[in-house]
Amino acid sequence: MERLRYQLKSLEKIPVKTWNTPLEGSRHVAQSIALAIRQRQQEGEQIVLGLATGSTPIQVYNELVRMHREEGLSFHNVITFNLDEYYPMQPDAPQSYVRFMREYLFNHVNIKKENIHIPDGTLPIDQIDAYCADYEKRIDALGGIDIQILGIGRTGHIGFNEPGSWESAETRLVRLDAITRKDALKDFPQEDDVPYRAITMGVKSIMKARTIYLLAWGDHKASIIKKAVEGVITPAVPATFLQKHPNVKAHIDLGAASELTRYEAPWLVGMCNWDEDLICQAVIWLSQKLDKPILKLTDEDYAENSLSDLIIEHASAYDINIRIFNRLQHTITGWPGGKPNADDSTRPERAKPAKKRVIIFSPHPDDDVISMGGTFLRLVDQGHDVHVAYQTSGNIAVHDHDARRFIEFMQEYGEGGSDNPGSKEKADRLFREMLRFMDKKAPGEGDTPEILRVKGLVRRGEARAAARFCGLADSHIHFMDLPFYETGGTRKNPLGEADIRITAELLERIKPHQVYAAGDLADPHGTHRVCIDAILGAFETLKGQAWAKDCWLWLYRGAWHEWPVHEIEMVVPLSPAELRKKRLAIFMHQSQKDRPPFPGSDEREFWQRAEDRNKATAAAYRSLGLAEYEAMEAFRRWKFDWQ
Ligand code: F6R
Repeated sequence: MERLRYQLKSLEKIPVKTWNTPLEGSRHVAQSIALAIRQRQQEGEQIVLGLATGSTPIQVYNELVRMHREEGLSFHNVITFNLDEYYPMQPDAPQSYVRFMREYLFNHVNIKKENIHIPDGTLPIDQIDAYCADYEKRIDALGGIDIQILGIGRTGHIGFNEPGSWESAETRLVRLDAITRKDALKDFPQEDDVPYRAITMGVKSIMKARTIYLLAWGDHKASIIKKAVEGVITPAVPATFLQKHPNVKAHIDLGAASELTRYEAPWLVGMCNWDEDLICQAVIWLSQKLDKPILKLTDEDYAENSLSDLIIEHASAYDINIRIFNRLQHTITGWPGGKPNADDSTRPERAKPAKKRVIIFSPHPDDDVISMGGTFLRLVDQGHDVHVAYQTSGNIAVHDHDARRFIEFMQEYGEGGSDNPGSKEKADRLFREMLRFMDKKAPGEGDTPEILRVKGLVRRGEARAAARFCGLADSHIHFMDLPFYETGGTRKNPLGEADIRITAELLERIKPHQVYAAGDLADPHGTHRVCIDAILGAFETLKGQAWAKDCWLWLYRGAWHEWPVHEIEMVVPLSPAELRKKRLAIFMHQSQKDRPPFPGSDEREFWQRAEDRNKATAAAYRSLGLAEYEAMEAFRRWKFDWQ
């Protein structure tokens, strides 16, 4: 144990605490902050908090607000300094950090207005240097920051200290990295709207804090967390400077931790408790590291790569190789709904019943075809009773010019079409109002409910076309329009009872044998995360029912990541023709072609991302020594503890 701790410490140069979910980690951090606030209150002292924005700290703020409301946590002695603000930025703009802090924290707790400090994005440029120097002085005058919360950007930035920032950097105006600007596209309608600059506290200002919590949630943070925690200290990854801080702790979830050596290759850190899953992970790791098919790995390969334990404890390389090769072989199936009249003892799905009722849940209206279009087509072709359920309207991701086309279409059609003069006038007025609103709409301004409805209908039409293309009857296409999504902006409401109820009602009506859902947490808007939580919450209410006990939940990953090969439990090969058909289904989503609004950081179109990913999975299987396919869609089964 001592040796293990020592080895971990030499590898992980920032102490790390991993949590099963972001919620657990966020609650812990919020409780630590609350404890510190209360301690200071007992001493009659103030406390200075350094705060971050972005998606990372939201659940910490939610929990602090809850503690304020339900447990009487007072903020009367709290002084805050925010890390950064875009420049230029008006405080009431949807993307402003002032607005963010008000919405998530300040409006809901009893903090004094004069105790809040957020860099001012409205200053004339020639006043910024003096303003920044003053920001530093104010922090120092209050005795420095007691607790600093940090998120981390994909570039390794903390605050907006981008690669190249020095350890001595203080609060200043900076230029945003191109990657950071791309990531910000999840909050801005288009690239031109993202500011090029920001005011940020410096690395030095951050390092002066007495305690630092670095937070990160989700697989998309895994590679930068590995660099920050295990990498060498370098201005190229500013978060690595935190390794020098005497009192820093990283609180991260298993997704963000997944590339740390202790998870990715725990045998490099110390002794392992080998079970079949870990053996599979090790064999794949070894095969990929040596670029050698599994069946060619030798005893020496294992011994020379810290895996001799495996050979000594379990078997020879020969036996392990065959065992893991077979395990992977058995994940491959052309029968995602189960193969009728076949021995299913080593197949991913059950043979019976031969015709299954299936629900494919799709968080946005195109995730079904993007992530599992090939499997969707197969399930229908193989005669299963397939339903598709679009969980959210996806209405914010339609360009104004597309909505305008439809409004004008309705307007022109109405002129010659309706023979009911009363309703025609009313409709005409509505169309004119919508068009007038769009003419005057400021960049980034939210839409009216009527325009949001039009945008939602645009996406509905596309989803319907794609589902019909995959062979579904209209009665099998369901639009759920979950309420948590309907904020009209990129910030969504948390999961509510209504979301779970709507999901449970659909499940109960169809009583599926098989459910497919997006199981990825790396969605930049968090929508996929809420959508899977709605499904899990719904199953919780239905678990007493006989059909539910027999219902298997398969998780696909959305447009961002694929499952690591050792986690895949079912993989469906696609022929070149099937891949082409899948592409045509994705093409039905015309409003999402080229550059949709809030596009995120990936330049590729959705069909390209999907094909690259499916081809990469096929290539990974191929390089492990399995058969060569054009492309593959991968799934992992969610096991309920009550099944
Ligand atoms: C925000 C900030 C940034 C973010 C980082 C991660 O105040 O300073 O460093 O913490 O970009 O952003 P999210 O949390 O949105 O992934």
